[in-house]
Amino acid sequence: MALILTIESTCDETAAAVVDDDLTIHSSVVATQEKLHEKFGGVVPEIASRAHVERILPVIDEALAKAGVTLADLDAVAVAHRPGLAGSLLVGLMAAKSLALAANLPLIGIDHLQAHIYACRIAAGRDVFPCVGLVVSGGHSTLYRCEGPLDFTPLGGTIDDAAGEAYDKVASMLGLGFPGGPALERAAAGGDPKRFPLPRPLMDDSSRLDFSFSGLKTSVRYQLFGPGRPDLDASALDPKVVADMAAGVQEAILDCLIGKTRLALARTGYTRLCVGGGVTANKRFRARLEELAAEYQIELFIPPFALCTDNAAMGAIAVEKFHAGQFDELDLDIGAGLQRL
Ligand code: KG4
Ligand code: ZN
Repeated sequence: MALILTIESTCDETAAAVVDDDLTIHSSVVATQEKLHEKFGGVVPEIASRAHVERILPVIDEALAKAGVTLADLDAVAVAHRPGLAGSLLVGLMAAKSLALAANLPLIGIDHLQAHIYACRIAAGRDVFPCVGLVVSGGHSTLYRCEGPLDFTPLGGTIDDAAGEAYDKVASMLGLGFPGGPALERAAAGGDPKRFPLPRPLMDDSSRLDFSFSGLKTSVRYQLFGPGRPDLDASALDPKVVADMAAGVQEAILDCLIGKTRLALARTGYTRLCVGGGVTANKRFRARLEELAAEYQIELFIPPFALCTDNAAMGAIAVEKFHAGQFDELDLDIGAGLQRL
């Protein structure tokens, strides 16, 4: 048995978990910062890093205590060191390096997006590779060819906003609050998705598997409030307009996600699809993924919600690196942007 402490601080959740090399999760602690960012309508990087500094050690202590272990029982310490907000990543990486040095443990750097897809492997309890991987969260919308747990090739991603970010920003324009994803999904129920014409950028270009969601925000803004620098008074909007716009935006986002995933399945010929990230909480998205899976007769893997949103248990992908002897030195750096893997 090998026990690994995993640390996650890529965005606005401070998390730690203790996992076994048979992928048993002994503890998983997540401290969210939602309340700190609510009034700004989005994650403020500087506030996020300061909050990580305050929380990281108590969260690690709690994860060890809940698992009933001490540092002396561990075989390695793993940390998501890319991609994410630079200041947030640094806090987790420094904590992991300090523990590795102090307790003489090997250090394992993991990729946060690979971990999101690996959550499907953990939840399924069996092999899910090779598969097409799709991560859809507040910070990322990325498609991968995943030949094995440590063999990922990016096929495409967003060239501007992430899908979750588009949900959040449009929800904010519609006066629906933060985080906007769940609120926009609720508002969309009963709305007419065809009332407002909305763009589906890059959909006609089958040569690339990228997304672009920033124009959607502009389109919503112009159609509801006019061009230029309009006064965004959401309280003046008719509830029917809000419902119809919410439904339209949701379908536009999902059309893009499903359309490019369809291309990724065709291009790879893979018969498994693993999806992760906070947007997978969306019922309409799940329904459309299920339709796609039925159409292509493929296996669809979506982890339970607690493993979809940011958490450290999905850092159990470190087990694969542990067994492959892939350890990192103490000069491991953060990688804020997307990497070739
Ligand atoms: O994976 P996650 O917890 O954090 C990162 O961004 O890494 O994802 C959060 C994102 C937010 O943008 C949130 O609005 C979105 O997931 N989200 C949803 C829903 N629940 C959460 N988007 C659409 N529909 C939902 N029901
Ligand atoms: Zn994430």
